[in-house]
Amino acid sequence: MPYVRDCEILENENVAPGHFRLRIEAPEIAQEARPAQFCMLQIQPGYYPLLRRPMSFERVYESSVSLLYKVAGDGTRLLSEARVGQEISVQGPLGNGFPLEEDFDRHILVAGGIGVAPFPALAEALVSELGRRPEVIIAARTKSAILCDDYFAELGCDTYVATDDGSLGVQGNAAQMLEELHPGPRDRVYVCGPMIMMSTTSEVAVRAGASCLVALEAQMACGDGVCLGCVVESKKELEGEKMVRVCCDGPVFDTTIIDWEAHNMAYDR
Ligand SMILES: Cc1cc2nc3c(=O)[nH]c(=O)nc-3n(C[C@H](O)[C@H](O)[C@H](O)COP(=O)(O)OP(=O)(O)OC[C@H]3O[C@@H](n4cnc5c(N)ncnc54)[C@H](O)[C@@H]3O)c2cc1C
Ligand code: FES
Repeated sequence: MPYVRDCEILENENVAPGHFRLRIEAPEIAQEARPAQFCMLQIQPGYYPLLRRPMSFERVYESSVSLLYKVAGDGTRLLSEARVGQEISVQGPLGNGFPLEEDFDRHILVAGGIGVAPFPALAEALVSELGRRPEVIIAARTKSAILCDDYFAELGCDTYVATDDGSLGVQGNAAQMLEELHPGPRDRVYVCGPMIMMSTTSEVAVRAGASCLVALEAQMACGDGVCLGCVVESKKELEGEKMVRVCCDGPVFDTTIIDWEAHNMAYDR
């Protein structure tokens, strides 16, 4: 059940150029939050920015949650200026989250840039609830945008890093890295990142016969399934169900139901 709560900011730390970690005291949300579920933040009181901004849970603690975010525009810039001790209005947990299922030989997490944000919570849940240590691929443009690699290593996950410019790890992209790990039909791949990266990485997973789940993003207004601002094209057969809502049907979808060709790849980060 989603709550709307004024939550105290416990931490808002600059963890890398243009990237911050916000931790908020939110006991009820922490009790229910699942990996890849998200919350909607009212950045500041008043009418600007008008809409709440969606953010995934990075980690879930006993009575608090952390969010890892990249400064993309005005809302996240204002958020980065929020001080410890201030309160922020938070609506959540929202969305479906990644299902945790035992029937797979390998669990492979593939992150592109800030798309790594929901994976610490997922890796933690796979370890603590299924006793399975995932393999993790983190790809980004450059070294300073590779986040959370230390944390995955701490959890004991085999972690593979790729950068476009070769400044850290292998020079290459997420899809190429996944190809090198040779996923198979008994494996599950979880993907989060820019749309073009999710599309190409999914293609590798599907070609290999692996199960592949993607955590999508879309511009959101309500976060509650009402405004239809977040719809994306799906391959569902029934015309009435052609579009799916990222906020409440997702954000996690089996990649095979997403119509990647119809999707506007220009909307990316
Ligand atoms: C379910 C969900 C979970 C998300 N989780 C995270 C997260 O954990 N960490 C994180 O940094 N970001 C996350 N995002 C993206 C984040 O919500 C946007 O970056 C943020 O809303 C931008 O707000 P802004 O006011 O700073 O920028 P705006 O001024 O609103 O936009 C600046 C730029 O960012 C683009 N943008 C705006 N909203 C989104 C969006 N939803 N997705 C992609 N690009 C967008 C705009 O097109 C524009 O180019 C998530 C989005 C969704 C839908
Ligand atoms: S954000 Fe309003 S329906 Fe999804």
